[in-house]
Amino acid sequence: MEIHNRRYTGSKFKLCNWIVNLVTSQCSGNSFCDIFSGTSVVSYHLLPFFNEIILNDFLFSNYVIYKAFYSNSEFDSDKLDCYLKKYSEINPNHIDDNYLSENFGGKFFSINDSKIIGHIREDIESNKDNLNEREYNILLASLLYSSDKVANTVGHYDAYIKNKDIKDKFTYKLIKPIDTSGKNIKIYREDANILSRKINSDIVYIDPPYNSRQYSRFYHVLENITKWEKPELEGVVLKPTPENMSEYCKCNASIVFKDLIDNLQCKYIVVSYNNTYNSKSNSSKNKISLDYIIDILKEKGETQTFEQSYKFFNTGKTEFKDHKEFIFITKVGNK
Ligand SMILES: C[S@@+](CC[C@H](N)C(=O)[O-])C[C@H]1O[C@@H](n2cnc3c(N)ncnc32)[C@H](O)[C@@H]1O
Repeated sequence: MEIHNRRYTGSKFKLCNWIVNLVTSQCSGNSFCDIFSGTSVVSYHLLPFFNEIILNDFLFSNYVIYKAFYSNSEFDSDKLDCYLKKYSEINPNHIDDNYLSENFGGKFFSINDSKIIGHIREDIESNKDNLNEREYNILLASLLYSSDKVANTVGHYDAYIKNKDIKDKFTYKLIKPIDTSGKNIKIYREDANILSRKINSDIVYIDPPYNSRQYSRFYHVLENITKWEKPELEGVVLKPTPENMSEYCKCNASIVFKDLIDNLQCKYIVVSYNNTYNSKSNSSKNKISLDYIIDILKEKGETQTFEQSYKFFNTGKTEFKDHKEFIFITKVGNK
């Protein structure tokens, strides 16, 4: 499984060629920072063009996924293949119920699949002393990708598909780590505004959430599997108590956006944006307006706007008329 083989709200996978062309033609430098990395597909596509890449996202699951795919540290492929074989041979009828099957069985996964996923997660944890950090992260990221593939959802965990006979589909597959030899890859799990004060990068790419949908709530099942602290869960979709609630999804989004831009130390700022502030659904409405973003960026330097029709990337399918994707590129200090 490769880095893009997951469903993720707001992934820029389909826009990557456009973003790569803009970044490489409009900016120059050796380092690229993806401060709201999400799936990290933008950084992945820009890897050949930079010596240093900084990845950051405050979700625990994304952090493990970046460490598994990108870090340069060693791992033993034969050892991982032994785990793959062991996990492929699990018979759900021969294992006990567990935290995952008790909470999510028949909801986000079939009963049998959830038993297997919970069993594997427990096994990875109990073998922690036999694995180095990279191997542990690869086994866990592989479990996250394999689980996400069969989840009974439309792509996030804010709901599961009801009244459905959920089929057993789970297969444990290993992820394919990315060759990052010769590259300096820095991986963080921090609030973007805190990190902005500590790092220095030639180009910083900014793709925050712009509406009220919290990623930590959307991906709570993956966060839960990653942390494996087995908290008590509440509500129809069985969420734990909230954490990592983004200020970018709240009414002071404009303030945190300005704070972020003010504190960045870089030569270029590249911002992704789309015009869903016109959306009919309240939760999809943007918290920051296009004009405000341009004003803040212009204070930092000369700013160019690039736009594409959403239809261009999505073969004509769109939630509403005139849906557009924007990229703003600011040359810092050059007003
Ligand atoms: C729109 S998504 C980024 C999508 C990404 N560019 C991609 O192509 O997959 C925004 C990301 O920001 C993260 N996030 C939200 N608020 C954050 C914060 N304050 N600090 C760090 N990460 C944050 C979310 O977890 C989410 O993964």
